[in-house]
Amino acid sequence: MGRLIVCMSVLLVACVSNCVFAEEKPTQGNDAPRKMNISRYDEAARGINAPMYAYYAQKIKERTGITKGVCLDVGSGGGYLGLALAKITDLDFVFLDISADALEKAKIHIFEDGLHERAKTLLADVHSIPLPDGSVNLIISRGSIPFWKDPAKALKEIYRILAPGGQAYVGGGRGTPEIQAQIAAKRKDLGMEPWDKPMGDKDPTGKGPGGMAQRNYEEILKTTGIKNYAIDKGNDGMWIQMWK
Ligand SMILES: C[S@@+](CC[C@H](N)C(=O)[O-])C[C@H]1O[C@@H](n2cnc3c(N)ncnc32)[C@H](O)[C@@H]1O
Repeated sequence: MGRLIVCMSVLLVACVSNCVFAEEKPTQGNDAPRKMNISRYDEAARGINAPMYAYYAQKIKERTGITKGVCLDVGSGGGYLGLALAKITDLDFVFLDISADALEKAKIHIFEDGLHERAKTLLADVHSIPLPDGSVNLIISRGSIPFWKDPAKALKEIYRILAPGGQAYVGGGRGTPEIQAQIAAKRKDLGMEPWDKPMGDKDPTGKGPGGMAQRNYEEILKTTGIKNYAIDKGNDGMWIQMWK
Protein backbone atom coordinates (compact mmCIF):
# COMPACT_ATOMS: atom_id res chain seq x y z
CA MET A 1 0.00 0.00 0.00
CA GLY A 2 2.80 2.38 1.02
CA ARG A 3 4.66 1.59 -2.22
CA LEU A 4 1.48 2.26 -4.23
CA ILE A 5 1.06 5.71 -2.62
CA VAL A 6 4.72 6.57 -3.38
CA CYS A 7 4.29 5.46 -7.02
CA MET A 8 1.11 7.48 -7.41
CA SER A 9 2.77 10.58 -5.90
CA VAL A 10 5.72 10.25 -8.31
CA LEU A 11 3.28 9.91 -11.24
CA LEU A 12 1.31 12.96 -10.11
CA VAL A 13 4.43 15.12 -9.74
CA ALA A 14 5.66 13.99 -13.17
CA CYS A 15 2.31 14.81 -14.76
CA VAL A 16 2.09 18.25 -13.11
CA SER A 17 5.65 19.20 -14.14
CA ASN A 18 4.98 17.99 -17.67
CA CYS A 19 1.76 19.97 -17.96
CA VAL A 20 3.45 23.14 -16.74
CA PHE A 21 6.35 22.58 -19.11
CA ALA A 22 4.04 21.90 -22.05
CA GLU A 23 2.02 25.03 -21.26
CA GLU A 24 5.10 27.21 -21.21
CA LYS A 25 6.49 25.85 -24.45
CA PRO A 26 5.61 27.95 -27.54
CA THR A 27 3.38 25.76 -29.72
CA GLN A 28 4.60 27.16 -33.05
CA GLY A 29 7.94 28.11 -34.39
CA ASN A 30 6.78 31.22 -36.23
CA ASP A 31 7.70 33.52 -33.37
CA ALA A 32 11.17 32.03 -32.98
CA PRO A 33 13.03 34.50 -35.23
CA ARG A 34 11.38 37.35 -33.36
CA LYS A 35 12.78 36.23 -30.00
CA MET A 36 16.14 37.77 -30.76
CA ASN A 37 14.60 41.23 -31.01
CA ILE A 38 11.96 40.92 -28.33
CA SER A 39 13.76 43.18 -25.83
CA ARG A 40 14.48 45.84 -28.42
CA TYR A 41 10.85 45.72 -29.62
CA ASP A 42 9.66 45.93 -26.01
CA GLU A 43 11.84 48.92 -25.16
CA ALA A 44 10.62 50.84 -28.22
CA ALA A 45 6.98 49.89 -27.59
CA ARG A 46 7.10 51.20 -24.01
CA GLY A 47 9.13 54.26 -25.01
CA ILE A 48 9.38 55.87 -28.38
CA ASN A 49 6.35 54.05 -29.89
CA ALA A 50 4.04 54.56 -26.90
CA PRO A 51 2.06 57.43 -28.57
CA MET A 52 1.03 55.01 -31.32
CA TYR A 53 -0.57 52.60 -28.81
CA ALA A 54 -2.27 55.51 -27.00
CA TYR A 55 -3.69 56.65 -30.35
CA TYR A 56 -5.13 53.21 -31.22
CA ALA A 57 -6.50 52.75 -27.69
CA GLN A 58 -8.40 56.02 -27.97
CA LYS A 59 -9.66 55.09 -31.43
CA ILE A 60 -10.85 51.66 -30.26
CA LYS A 61 -12.66 53.24 -27.31
CA GLU A 62 -14.42 55.72 -29.62
CA ARG A 63 -15.22 53.17 -32.35
CA THR A 64 -16.53 50.40 -30.10
CA GLY A 65 -17.83 52.37 -27.12
CA ILE A 66 -16.97 49.38 -24.88
CA THR A 67 -15.41 50.48 -21.60
CA LYS A 68 -16.53 47.74 -19.17
CA GLY A 69 -16.34 43.95 -19.05
CA VAL A 70 -13.56 41.69 -20.33
CA CYS A 71 -11.12 42.67 -23.07
CA LEU A 72 -8.88 40.12 -24.78
CA ASP A 73 -5.70 41.44 -26.43
CA VAL A 74 -4.75 38.79 -29.04
CA GLY A 75 -1.08 38.48 -29.97
CA SER A 76 -0.54 41.04 -27.24
CA GLY A 77 3.23 40.80 -27.14
CA GLY A 78 4.18 42.79 -24.04
CA GLY A 79 0.60 44.05 -23.70
CA TYR A 80 1.18 47.54 -25.09
CA LEU A 81 -2.23 48.16 -26.71
CA GLY A 82 -4.30 46.63 -23.92
CA LEU A 83 -2.33 48.49 -21.27
CA ALA A 84 -2.92 51.78 -23.11
CA LEU A 85 -6.64 50.95 -23.23
CA ALA A 86 -6.66 50.05 -19.54
CA LYS A 87 -5.64 53.63 -18.72
CA ILE A 88 -8.81 55.08 -20.29
CA THR A 89 -11.43 52.38 -19.51
CA ASP A 90 -12.63 50.15 -16.65
CA LEU A 91 -12.10 46.95 -18.64
CA ASP A 92 -10.46 43.82 -17.23
CA PHE A 93 -7.83 42.28 -19.50
CA VAL A 94 -6.59 38.93 -20.76
CA PHE A 95 -3.33 39.17 -22.71
CA LEU A 96 -3.06 36.21 -25.09
CA ASP A 97 0.09 35.33 -26.98
CA ILE A 98 1.71 32.24 -28.46
CA SER A 99 5.09 33.34 -27.12
CA ALA A 100 5.92 32.73 -23.47
CA ASP A 101 8.75 35.28 -23.74
CA ALA A 102 6.34 37.98 -24.93
CA LEU A 103 4.00 37.20 -22.04
CA GLU A 104 6.88 37.52 -19.56
CA LYS A 105 7.23 41.12 -20.78
CA ALA A 106 3.47 41.59 -20.46
CA LYS A 107 3.57 40.35 -16.84
CA ILE A 108 6.29 42.88 -16.01
CA HIS A 109 4.34 45.75 -17.58
CA ILE A 110 1.07 44.72 -15.88
CA PHE A 111 2.86 45.14 -12.52
CA GLU A 112 4.65 48.32 -13.58
CA ASP A 113 1.29 49.85 -14.50
CA GLY A 114 -0.35 48.62 -11.26
CA LEU A 115 -2.89 46.53 -13.18
CA HIS A 116 -2.34 43.10 -11.61
CA GLU A 117 -5.88 43.05 -10.22
CA ARG A 118 -7.39 43.75 -13.65
CA ALA A 119 -5.18 41.70 -15.94
CA LYS A 120 -3.90 38.19 -16.57
CA THR A 121 -1.94 36.45 -19.30
CA LEU A 122 -2.88 33.44 -21.41
CA LEU A 123 -0.37 31.38 -23.39
CA ALA A 124 -2.37 30.20 -26.39
CA ASP A 125 -2.77 30.14 -30.15
CA VAL A 126 -5.40 32.40 -31.70
CA HIS A 127 -6.45 29.48 -33.91
CA SER A 128 -7.71 27.61 -30.85
CA ILE A 129 -8.57 30.02 -28.05
CA PRO A 130 -9.16 28.23 -24.73
CA LEU A 131 -12.08 30.47 -23.70
CA PRO A 132 -15.82 29.68 -23.74
CA ASP A 133 -18.25 30.86 -26.44
CA GLY A 134 -19.63 34.35 -25.88
CA SER A 135 -17.32 35.15 -22.95
CA VAL A 136 -15.46 38.30 -24.05
CA ASN A 137 -16.87 41.82 -24.50
CA LEU A 138 -14.05 43.38 -26.49
CA ILE A 139 -11.30 41.72 -28.52
CA ILE A 140 -8.40 43.80 -29.76
CA SER A 141 -5.29 42.91 -31.68
CA ARG A 142 -2.56 44.98 -33.31
CA GLY A 143 0.21 43.74 -35.56
CA SER A 144 -0.44 40.04 -34.99
CA ILE A 145 -2.79 39.08 -37.85
CA PRO A 146 -0.01 38.90 -40.51
CA PHE A 147 1.50 36.05 -38.48
CA TRP A 148 -1.66 33.95 -38.29
CA LYS A 149 -1.31 30.87 -40.48
CA ASP A 150 -5.07 30.57 -41.11
CA PRO A 151 -6.65 34.01 -40.62
CA ALA A 152 -10.17 32.76 -41.48
CA LYS A 153 -9.99 30.14 -38.72
CA ALA A 154 -8.54 32.69 -36.28
CA LEU A 155 -11.24 35.28 -37.06
CA LYS A 156 -13.94 32.62 -36.55
CA GLU A 157 -12.39 31.77 -33.17
CA ILE A 158 -12.44 35.45 -32.21
CA TYR A 159 -16.08 35.71 -33.29
CA ARG A 160 -17.01 32.55 -31.36
CA ILE A 161 -15.83 33.93 -28.02
CA LEU A 162 -17.38 37.37 -28.56
CA ALA A 163 -20.25 38.03 -26.13
CA PRO A 164 -23.62 39.27 -27.43
CA GLY A 165 -23.19 43.03 -27.87
CA GLY A 166 -19.43 42.51 -28.02
CA GLN A 167 -17.02 43.89 -30.59
CA ALA A 168 -13.65 43.03 -32.04
CA TYR A 169 -11.11 45.45 -33.48
CA VAL A 170 -8.26 43.61 -35.13
CA GLY A 171 -5.59 44.83 -37.52
CA GLY A 172 -2.40 46.71 -37.76
CA GLY A 173 -0.63 49.90 -38.58
CA ARG A 174 1.79 52.39 -37.14
CA GLY A 175 -0.55 55.24 -36.32
CA THR A 176 -1.40 58.27 -38.43
CA PRO A 177 1.20 59.86 -40.73
CA GLU A 178 1.64 62.54 -38.02
CA ILE A 179 2.42 59.95 -35.35
CA GLN A 180 4.77 58.12 -37.72
CA ALA A 181 6.58 61.41 -38.48
CA GLN A 182 6.84 62.18 -34.76
CA ILE A 183 8.33 58.74 -34.05
CA ALA A 184 10.68 59.00 -37.05
CA ALA A 185 11.95 62.38 -35.80
CA LYS A 186 12.60 60.98 -32.32
CA ARG A 187 14.46 58.01 -33.78
CA LYS A 188 16.62 60.38 -35.81
CA ASP A 189 17.33 62.56 -32.73
CA LEU A 190 18.43 59.46 -30.86
CA GLY A 191 20.61 58.31 -33.75
CA MET A 192 18.46 55.23 -34.29
CA GLU A 193 17.91 53.46 -37.62
CA PRO A 194 14.66 54.41 -39.42
CA TRP A 195 11.75 52.11 -38.60
CA ASP A 196 11.90 48.97 -40.77
CA LYS A 197 9.14 48.05 -43.16
CA PRO A 198 6.43 46.09 -41.33
CA MET A 199 7.38 42.40 -41.13
CA GLY A 200 5.66 40.29 -43.70
CA ASP A 201 4.62 43.12 -46.01
CA LYS A 202 7.81 42.70 -48.00
CA ASP A 203 8.92 39.15 -47.60
CA PRO A 204 11.32 38.39 -50.44
CA THR A 205 11.23 34.66 -49.69
CA GLY A 206 7.44 34.44 -49.78
CA LYS A 207 7.74 31.98 -46.89
CA GLY A 208 7.30 34.44 -44.03
CA PRO A 209 4.07 35.59 -42.44
CA GLY A 210 1.42 36.81 -44.88
CA GLY A 211 1.76 40.57 -44.71
CA MET A 212 -1.33 42.72 -44.46
CA ALA A 213 -0.59 44.10 -47.90
CA GLN A 214 -0.44 40.59 -49.37
CA ARG A 215 -3.71 39.17 -48.04
CA ASN A 216 -7.22 40.06 -49.17
CA TYR A 217 -9.11 40.22 -45.89
CA GLU A 218 -12.41 41.01 -47.63
CA GLU A 219 -12.18 37.63 -49.41
CA ILE A 220 -10.98 35.89 -46.25
CA LEU A 221 -13.91 37.26 -44.24
CA LYS A 222 -16.40 36.12 -46.90
CA THR A 223 -15.28 32.53 -46.34
CA THR A 224 -15.95 32.72 -42.57
CA GLY A 225 -19.72 33.15 -42.69
CA ILE A 226 -19.40 36.15 -40.35
CA LYS A 227 -21.92 38.78 -41.46
CA ASN A 228 -21.27 41.64 -39.05
CA TYR A 229 -17.99 43.17 -40.04
CA ALA A 230 -16.45 46.25 -41.62
CA ILE A 231 -12.95 46.81 -42.94
CA ASP A 232 -11.34 50.15 -42.25
CA LYS A 233 -8.41 50.94 -44.53
CA GLY A 234 -7.32 54.42 -43.60
CA ASN A 235 -4.08 56.32 -43.26
CA ASP A 236 -3.50 54.55 -39.95
CA GLY A 237 -3.49 50.97 -41.23
CA MET A 238 -5.94 48.19 -41.92
CA TRP A 239 -8.48 47.25 -39.25
CA ILE A 240 -11.31 44.73 -39.16
CA GLN A 241 -14.24 45.53 -36.88
CA MET A 242 -16.66 42.70 -36.03
CA TRP A 243 -19.71 42.77 -33.77
CA LYS A 244 -22.39 40.45 -32.38
C1 LIG B 1 4.43 42.20 -34.13
S1 LIG B 1 4.01 41.46 -32.60
C2 LIG B 1 2.71 42.58 -32.05
C3 LIG B 1 2.71 42.69 -30.56
C4 LIG B 1 1.73 43.75 -30.01
N1 LIG B 1 0.35 43.38 -30.28
C5 LIG B 1 1.99 45.11 -30.57
O1 LIG B 1 1.08 45.75 -31.11
O2 LIG B 1 3.14 45.57 -30.44
C6 LIG B 1 3.08 40.00 -33.07
C7 LIG B 1 2.68 39.14 -31.88
O3 LIG B 1 1.76 38.14 -32.31
C8 LIG B 1 2.07 36.93 -31.65
N2 LIG B 1 1.53 35.79 -32.42
C9 LIG B 1 1.96 35.34 -33.63
N3 LIG B 1 1.24 34.27 -34.01
C10 LIG B 1 0.30 34.06 -33.03
C11 LIG B 1 -0.72 33.10 -32.85
N4 LIG B 1 -0.94 32.14 -33.75
N5 LIG B 1 -1.48 33.16 -31.72
C12 LIG B 1 -1.23 34.11 -30.79
N6 LIG B 1 -0.26 35.05 -30.91
C13 LIG B 1 0.50 35.03 -32.02
C14 LIG B 1 3.59 36.94 -31.57
O4 LIG B 1 4.10 36.05 -30.60
C15 LIG B 1 3.86 38.41 -31.25
O5 LIG B 1 3.91 38.67 -29.87
